[in-house]
Amino acid sequence: MVAKVTEIEQIRHELDNDLKKSGSSADVDKLRSKYLGKQGVVNLLFRSLPVKTNPHLGQAINELKNLIKDRLSAKLTETLSHAEQDILDVTVPGQIIPQGSLHLVTQAIEDIENIFLKLGFARRRYPEVETDWYYAEGLNIPKDHPARDDQETFYVTDNTVLTAHTSNGQLREMELKKTPPIKMINIGKTYRRQTDATHTPMFHQFEGLVIEKGINITHLLGVTEYFAKSYFGQERQTRLRPHHFQFTEPSFEIDITCGVCQGTGMVHKLPCKVCKSGWLELGGAGMVHPNVLRNGGLNPENCSGFAFGWGVERVLMMKSNLPDLRLVYSDDIRFLKQF
Ligand code: DAH
Repeated sequence: MVAKVTEIEQIRHELDNDLKKSGSSADVDKLRSKYLGKQGVVNLLFRSLPVKTNPHLGQAINELKNLIKDRLSAKLTETLSHAEQDILDVTVPGQIIPQGSLHLVTQAIEDIENIFLKLGFARRRYPEVETDWYYAEGLNIPKDHPARDDQETFYVTDNTVLTAHTSNGQLREMELKKTPPIKMINIGKTYRRQTDATHTPMFHQFEGLVIEKGINITHLLGVTEYFAKSYFGQERQTRLRPHHFQFTEPSFEIDITCGVCQGTGMVHKLPCKVCKSGWLELGGAGMVHPNVLRNGGLNPENCSGFAFGWGVERVLMMKSNLPDLRLVYSDDIRFLKQF
């Protein structure tokens, strides 16, 4: 009896080893006849037994037989599913996995940032919810100035706004650096109560500020020209137009030549529909007002600076000829996936 029990154990071991070695359904077939065939291991064991005298032994062998059956059919399923996986039909068309991409405004911000990083500007981001001082008063905009018109600005409290421009970053940067040289590009979100084809309530601006001893308008011109050519193309030209801002003196609007008519104002002998005059407005700029320098803790006797504040969506629309800015902030994937 004991001898037979060890034999059963040995058979189980052998089965384990055989199963490990077998990898195909043919292997499993061979094992089936080895263990369960007429002349197979189990039958031989049965025959060699004094079953009549020991019913327990018969039961043990039956259990072994069932175990072998189960193990073999499990192995068979395993080998079949492997075989299925191995079939590679090279004529089946590939699956295109949809891939996302950065939003076009994010791409524009990265492009702009990279252009200014090359010129040695430091990228900054300053608060979008700002106090009156940084947003207006400290920028030389008195309490009754039309720029504070609450038609345009979102007020959070009497003294706090959602910034309608990134110029608040000017005073914050002066406070942070304390002394020149200052060379920052502040790119951030701005908010105004406006919405039409070229305006959305939330948009982005990039604000440049350069302060050092001896900074003058030619430096502003150089940086403007470099940006226009890098972002829009080498053929583009820029010009300054006199303007007024509270925080700069003198102040300018900067124009760049239109990409559609190349600055001529004419396309096929007809007036250019995009610009009408050959020029497109880029945005405001100027020499930092002495009051602003003082409010930032600097001495206008020792340094001077220029600043500019331009719209990210605006340059993007100018570059890509987008018909309607609201599309940019829609979730229309047919539009967005073109970029
Ligand atoms: N903050 C102005 C605006 O949003 C733009 C601007 C004009 C920024 C002149 C400047 C500047 O830094 O010098 O309309």
